[in-house]
Amino acid sequence: MGFEMKQEKDVLSKDQCKVKSPNPNSVNSPHIKKKKKKKDKDKTKKRGMRRKRSDSPADEITPVRRLFDTCKEVFSSGGPGVIPSEDKIQQLRDILDNMKPGDVGLAPTMPYFRPDYGPEDGSSPPITYLHLHQCEQFSIGIFCLPPSGVIPLHNHPGMTVFSKLLFGTMHIKSYDWVADAPIQDIYRLVISQFAVRDPKTRLAKLKMNSALTAPCNASILYPEDGGNMHRFTAITACAVLDVLGPPYCNPEGRHCTYFLEFPLDNFSSEGGDVLRGEVEKEGHAWLQERGDNPEDLNVVGALYTGPKVED
Ligand SMILES: [Fe+2]
Repeated sequence: MGFEMKQEKDVLSKDQCKVKSPNPNSVNSPHIKKKKKKKDKDKTKKRGMRRKRSDSPADEITPVRRLFDTCKEVFSSGGPGVIPSEDKIQQLRDILDNMKPGDVGLAPTMPYFRPDYGPEDGSSPPITYLHLHQCEQFSIGIFCLPPSGVIPLHNHPGMTVFSKLLFGTMHIKSYDWVADAPIQDIYRLVISQFAVRDPKTRLAKLKMNSALTAPCNASILYPEDGGNMHRFTAITACAVLDVLGPPYCNPEGRHCTYFLEFPLDNFSSEGGDVLRGEVEKEGHAWLQERGDNPEDLNVVGALYTGPKVED
């Protein structure tokens, strides 16, 4: 922001010089001169005022810069598991709700979004990740998906995540862990049996299983709810802008874990019938941790070439 203000000052002083240049149509009468001088003075004043209004920092700030500045404010006192206040969430949501592909230099006609983008061996089409910013507090990036592109089911440990679909239609399936939900003892017993048998498999509750079509508002997930684990599937070519606070950080234990999803039937036991009968209808599944590099994960990085994010 400081850089922009400096620029505006420079522009203003150059223009002021132009205003002071002699007027070839000036008349020699002292009265007229005086009047003329006063008029010129008034004109200069008015022009100055006009410039001040049009050169105000708010006019110069691009949507992506506004997003960056707001993220700095929203996540300034954040950390793992810390959810920004409602006011701050709303502030960021308002910015994202109004963002369009052009604000980040994207158009659906770009190669990343073509159906034939990537290999022709029938494997999952590559998804392109454009990195905009990362600091300790937050990260901003864009996923560009061709039709049928999939970002497999993954988590966001301790994070608050804002996702804004910029264009296209995308299916989202998301879950939250059941761990803290009030469950009857029989369920607890069954869940604990599975936990002993396979500590990498946990019960999760379905949060969302539907498609979004742009233009639409940003969706938000939280450390413990809102669909912290999600999978994105491109129904048409689409682009989604993600803001993560705080970002993934392996040394701090916030790494991205991928999951396989199994219906409750796959882990039947003595209590399984009760569990299936009572819980399944509410939309639950077992989520099992996968290895670090799932074979269906096909994300490649590319250089962001849109409007400048920061100085
Ligand atoms: Fe995600």
